[in-house]
Formats: sequence, structure tokens, C-alpha cells
Amino acid sequence: MKKPPSGLITALKESNNLLVLTGAGMSAESGVPTFRDAQTGLWEKFRPEDLATPEAFRDQPQVVWDWYAERRTRISTISPHPGHAALVEMEQYFECFMLVTQNVDSLHQQAGSKNVIELHGNIMRSVCSRTGKAIDDEWIAASNDRPPLSPHHPSGLARPGVVWFGEELPTGTMNRATAAALDCDICFSIGTSTLVQPAASLPFVALDAGATVVEINPQPTRLSSAAHFSLRATAASSLPVIAAALAGYKRA
Ligand code: OAD
Repeated sequence: MKKPPSGLITALKESNNLLVLTGAGMSAESGVPTFRDAQTGLWEKFRPEDLATPEAFRDQPQVVWDWYAERRTRISTISPHPGHAALVEMEQYFECFMLVTQNVDSLHQQAGSKNVIELHGNIMRSVCSRTGKAIDDEWIAASNDRPPLSPHHPSGLARPGVVWFGEELPTGTMNRATAAALDCDICFSIGTSTLVQPAASLPFVALDAGATVVEINPQPTRLSSAAHFSLRATAASSLPVIAAALAGYKRA
């Protein structure tokens, strides 16, 4: 993107409270497959119900464990892109900045973002399938079982610390994200198909609460017609331009 819409930069300069929501498209330019992109999305190759549900883990724990292990390996080799860095830079320009991500890959934290809410958990974490308690990496690495047994419950197994279809989001997480959507002056929705609830409701909550809503996505979504700015652009190409337009103006 050459130049952000001037109205967007004006709105950003006048706001103090920014909420950024990200989805798989935010990680795409770091080499992480999205879920629903035609041809390249994960769900084009696998059926979510076969791999990303408690029932799938109950019925075929090793298949599910191995699939996440493969994704973990891929994610451990990737790095944040300039779009992630731009969000870190923008964080300093606002009194209140909250980043709510559906992504489970830690790229925002790796880039240096501080206020991050992980709505769908984190793929690099393991928890007990019976108690939900965290299982440390050393325990996982020391086990040859796939999945490893859990140290917290006699019939528990280690499972990825992510939210599966049909599961509740971590307690309090959605409340904090909704509060941020109600309070923000501007809400960015970046790289999400806006299909999976309750995350998909957040930009609409912000909109109804009077915030300016900005979408960044090469494809249109059901948010596009409602957003004040719907930028047909990628995260890595647009966010650095937006951050640069702010840099001359806002100082921490
Ligand atoms: P999707 O794969 O559904 O959507 C990715 C979106 O990113 C699409 O709208 C793409 O057009 C867009 N996109 C692709 N490349 C992009 C780029 N370089 N820059 C900006 N946008 C780009 O992924 P999500 O919307 O994140 O849930 O999916 C939401 C949830 O569904 C995921 O968190 C996961 C999945 O099942 C759970 O795991 C519970």
C-alpha cells in the first residue's frame, strides 16, 4: 500500500485507545498457513472436526498430537514480519493499546507486542486433557509417548494448549476482549475471515459502541461493508505504511 487513506491517519491521530484484532492472515506473510484461504488454507487439506475438536483427540489422540507437533515444528522456525513490528511501534503512540489475536503462534509476542490477549490459546503450550493444568516443556520432551501422559491426572494426556471447536474460550479472556472493544476509539481487524465466534463479534461490538473500524484483508469479508475503512491490502505491506504516517506525529 503506497499511502493510507488520509481520513484514517487523521482518525488515528485523534484517538487514544486502539484495539487490534488479528487472525491467521496476520501470520501468513511469516509463512504460517491460514485456515480457509483457498488452496493454501489448513482446512482445505484437513477437516477441522478430524483434528481440532475434543472428540477427535479422544478418538485418535496420536493423530491429533502429531498434527500439532508438526505445526509446532513449523512455527518454531518462523519469524515476525514488518507488519508485526509496525504494531509494536504503534503501541507506543496510544494511551491504551490492546492486541487481541485468534492466532496461536506467539508471533506478536516474539515481535515485542506487550498487551496481547490470545483468544484461542497458544500452540506452543501443553495442558492436561483432564484438569487443564499446564504441563511444562521438560516433561513433554522427556516422554516418548505420543501424546505424553499427564503428570496431573492418572488418566490425563498432554494436549495442545489451544481452544478447539466446541470448547469455551479461556475464562475471562473474552470478557477482557469485549471490554476493550467497547472502550476503543479505533478497532483494526486484520487478517481474519470474521467467521469464527465469539472472536468475529468483536469488531461489530466496537462498531456498535461508536468506534472507527478498519479492516485490513486482501479479500472482502462480512465486515467489509460495515467497516469505515476496508483496505484491500496485506498486513505486511500496509501496517508499516500506517505506522510510518503516525511516527512523525505521535510521540510516546
Ligand atoms: P482464516 O483462514 O479463516 O482467514 C484468514 C483471513 O486472512 C482471510 O480472510 C484471508 O483473506 C486473510 N489473509 C490472507 N493473507 C493475508 C495477509 N497477508 N494479510 C492480511 N490478511 C490476509 O483465519 P481466521 O479468520 O484467523 O480457530 O480463523 C479464525 C479461527 O478459525 C482460527 O483462530 C481457528 C480457525 O478454526 C480455532 O483454532 C479455534
